[in-house]
Amino acid sequence: MIDIHNHVLYGIDDGCIDYQVSLELIKQAEAEGINKIILTPHYLKGSMYNLESDELKVRFDHFKKHLRSDGVNIEVYCGNELFIHYQLDELLTDHKVMTLADSNYILVEFAFFDYPNENDEILYNLTLAGYKIIIAHPERYKYVKKDPNFCLRWLDKGYLLQVNQQSILSSVNNLAMRMIKNGFVSFVASDAHNYQRPLSLKRALSLVENVIGEKEAEKLFITNPQKVIDDELIINDSYTPIKKGIFERLL
Ligand SMILES: [Fe+2]
Repeated sequence: MIDIHNHVLYGIDDGCIDYQVSLELIKQAEAEGINKIILTPHYLKGSMYNLESDELKVRFDHFKKHLRSDGVNIEVYCGNELFIHYQLDELLTDHKVMTLADSNYILVEFAFFDYPNENDEILYNLTLAGYKIIIAHPERYKYVKKDPNFCLRWLDKGYLLQVNQQSILSSVNNLAMRMIKNGFVSFVASDAHNYQRPLSLKRALSLVENVIGEKEAEKLFITNPQKVIDDELIINDSYTPIKKGIFERLL
């Protein structure tokens, strides 16, 4: 399995606080069969999460070296989770923030409570600049919880959606799983931060397999993440809107 979203590169954001915690989470991940991870510290312009990529790469190289000397065989790559901002295009062009594993894919997150319409324009401009958009954990946003078909505005533009493994575990008939069933989702990732939010995918994989079958589940946990690393195009055009009666029962 491949994880494309986590905060286990320690000491940069609200993720792992030190190397020992990072190491432990990564060792657990390796033990359950995760073999590649893209490290994605938060970047939020104007906040304390503003480590730029030249320094991030130094920390990443150092981290990678330590993992190797501690016997970790997981392949690690670097990236960012980018909070939506009108200057993202510029920050990417100037190489101040990172795409995922040096591909053209970017992981973008939004505010939890409000979605200003200008976000659509920012995303569209990023696609014009050649970036492929992955939206982090849509199932956690208030406006998506209220109406999961809010996601159609992204899906119709060709943006890909990533749900968190913990969102799948919370109950059987939940929003994240409903989004998976309706073909909204291209990735499941850990969004690991600490012991409470670990770098784990195995349980989520088996739940998803039960619902959509092994072959389809493999896409979300292995094939699509590998395509990100290889910078190959992923097209999701097989989604269907969620019927109103169904999502009302999810609230
Ligand atoms: Fe995250």
